[in-house]
Amino acid sequence: MNAIEAVLPPFETLRWYLEAGVDECVGEEAVNRFAPAPALAPTAVALETPTRPAPVPPAKPPPSAQTPRPAAPSLAANAKSLDELKAALLALEGCALKTTATQLVFADGNPEAKVMFIGEAPGADEDRIGRPFVGQAGKLLDKMLGSIGLSRDNAYITNLLVWRPPGNRTPTPQEVGLLLPFLERHIELVDPQLVVLLGGTAAQAVLARPEGITKLRGKWFDYATPGLVRPLQALATFHPAYLLRQPAQKREAWRDLLMLRRKLDELGV
Ligand code: URA
Repeated sequence: MNAIEAVLPPFETLRWYLEAGVDECVGEEAVNRFAPAPALAPTAVALETPTRPAPVPPAKPPPSAQTPRPAAPSLAANAKSLDELKAALLALEGCALKTTATQLVFADGNPEAKVMFIGEAPGADEDRIGRPFVGQAGKLLDKMLGSIGLSRDNAYITNLLVWRPPGNRTPTPQEVGLLLPFLERHIELVDPQLVVLLGGTAAQAVLARPEGITKLRGKWFDYATPGLVRPLQALATFHPAYLLRQPAQKREAWRDLLMLRRKLDELGV
């Protein structure tokens, strides 16, 4: 029992954890990271046996070290279809998010669509259901799509991260670095004409730009990768979750949506 559990009844303890953002269980027992390290058992030294000890065979490397695993970028690049890309993600090692997330949240919508929307990462609802943008932010995204004649039938939706970060925390640079090659391959395989980046995290990662979303939104960027048949155009806008917190910004988001609608019209989509 830890200090919190000692003073609060069980239900209140759970509520306290939830409000503090602790909504994942990663072990059976809490770890006291302040406890002094246990004293090491003294190493047995065979002083009394002057005979030469039998040679110790070299330690066997763990199975994962015996067969070198392809690194994330080549795992992603080798995927020739969306199913293969999904399988490559399921086979990916070294991503701790996999251990806390319920499931992989790959994509939703029409993979033949001309426009692809990219968010940040699944939240609790997406993690439970297995589809991107199905919670409150997703409902707003559906309204935003509908306002310019789009829906999940003619748009494709995914996220920068395909596993939920615990407690919905912001993705770390390491997580983005590991999963960005998969998103880039995802874009190549869907091959849309336009990409819409929802929020600063996705916009900065995909466009490889340091500016915040307020600077990046509302303009078209050329986007090209070696595996794309031709460069495409990308537009960044505010994330729907941000718009739920800052409704005054919906005005700017509406301008971005109109830019997108005009571009779709120009392309005859
Ligand atoms: N926020 C995101 O960025 N993606 C989702 O799928 C849901 C919420």
